[in-house]
Amino acid sequence: KVFKSKKTPPLIEWNGGLKIPLVGGMLEFLKGPMKLMAKAFPKYGEVFTVPVFHERITFLIGPKVSEFFFKAKDVEMSQKEVYEFNVPTFGKGVVFDVDHQTRAEQFRFFADSLKSERLRTYVGMMVKEADAFFEKWGDEGEVDLLDSLSELIVLTASRCLLGREIRENLFSEVTALVHDLDKGMVPLSVFFPYAPIEAHRKRDKARKDLALIFDKVIQARRESGSLEPDVLQTFIDARYKDGSKLTNDQVLGMLIAVLFAGQHTSSITSTWTGLLAIANKERVMPYLEQEQQKIMKKHGTKIDFDVLAEMDELHFAVKEALRMHPPLIMLLRKAQVNFDVETSDGKKYTVPKGHICATSPAFAHRMDSVFKNPNTYDPQRFKSDENKFASYIGFGAGRHGCMGETFAFMQIKTIWSVLIRNFEFDLIGDLPEPDYEGMVVGPKHPCKIRYKRRDRKKNGLMKSPSTMSKSFKA
Ligand code: HEM
Repeated sequence: KVFKSKKTPPLIEWNGGLKIPLVGGMLEFLKGPMKLMAKAFPKYGEVFTVPVFHERITFLIGPKVSEFFFKAKDVEMSQKEVYEFNVPTFGKGVVFDVDHQTRAEQFRFFADSLKSERLRTYVGMMVKEADAFFEKWGDEGEVDLLDSLSELIVLTASRCLLGREIRENLFSEVTALVHDLDKGMVPLSVFFPYAPIEAHRKRDKARKDLALIFDKVIQARRESGSLEPDVLQTFIDARYKDGSKLTNDQVLGMLIAVLFAGQHTSSITSTWTGLLAIANKERVMPYLEQEQQKIMKKHGTKIDFDVLAEMDELHFAVKEALRMHPPLIMLLRKAQVNFDVETSDGKKYTVPKGHICATSPAFAHRMDSVFKNPNTYDPQRFKSDENKFASYIGFGAGRHGCMGETFAFMQIKTIWSVLIRNFEFDLIGDLPEPDYEGMVVGPKHPCKIRYKRRDRKKNGLMKSPSTMSKSFKA
């Protein structure tokens, strides 16, 4: 629908109303927009425009105006222009470097690689990796949860996504290259992805080196005709509607895209789940422990897709951690047309074509008009959740909502069911603050916890960490 009044959103002035100096304001924006939103929202409301360099960024804050963002078609609000900075990392010929039609087909390949019958196999790999990893923890100790869970998620991702050859033979080499690729994405890269800085130079070298490694691995699979149960295989087998297939370099590009979508997001969310549950352990842990006990009574020690699907309490705990601390704090699009929005108090604006549009899970999830007591970690809130469209947006929503949501839940629930069955925990120090300077926002270091294995000596050695001791007490 087209509104009669073509009022553009209010433009915030760096030097004026917000008292942020021009250059400082831009730096602040690059470091993280949370403070900016906290200052601008009370003054300007749900829709406002911020000038950053040569761009105009229009914020759409809260479920009412975000709905327009999430329900827009690609021809109205496009991802390509705003996520194009990923091209040097993912590589040519994939995702944001292709026309709309090709991208739609490639997104179908992503969807195929993550559908539930495949997830059943991936869960088996996740459990295997988690069992082996936590067995090495011994009976008691201290760890930095973010470092530790990131390590486990790299191992799991390399098995489920990159495949057996990489996981078993080339793990450290590939992990080091992926690390350089990752460190090559800094806030500056969003605006200037080809700026001649050291981080970008290393990124480009790592991308080339990875191409050489994967070319050999993919060629060997193509020639041997062997079929592996991983995401790599689905991309090798993928066919466009005209029957053509991805080149080896494009297969790698697709893999890097999935790896980047799922790596930090999952590491961070599994870390917050643990930190928040442990920090509120008197109130939250009994639900999680009793649930594991109940499920073990029914299914024994086995963990698989169906068993994980029964863990509602753990699901709520993860979902609530993601509500409080969504790692993707801003989602972006570029308006391809003059775009109309209406606020919850009936104000109508037309966002001009060419503006970047931003909506913020991190900010909206803490609005008390959206969630009651938004600063309290309360997984039980989801028992009576109404789940209105665009209220809970940690995984985005609508046509571009996260395709890896079930994969992520399965992975994080595998980790925490193995951990809760086998250990008791204490937080060391205070709950960390979010580090809004990161590209993907996680907790600041340190994230230290102390763990103690539940009574395994008394009850005989467990065969694997996913076997809970008999003395498990809820
Ligand atoms: C998209 C969050 C894990 C694959 C998204 C979006 C969000 C998100 C917010 C929407 C971006 C936008 O609208 O611009 C998360 C979080 C995760 C997670 C918080 C973990 C807790 C994963 C995993 C995978 C994955 C594990 C793959 C294995 C994708 C893909 C898209 C996507 C392919 C693009 C969908 C599209 O544009 O149509 N994710 N994600 N994500 N995610 Fe995730």
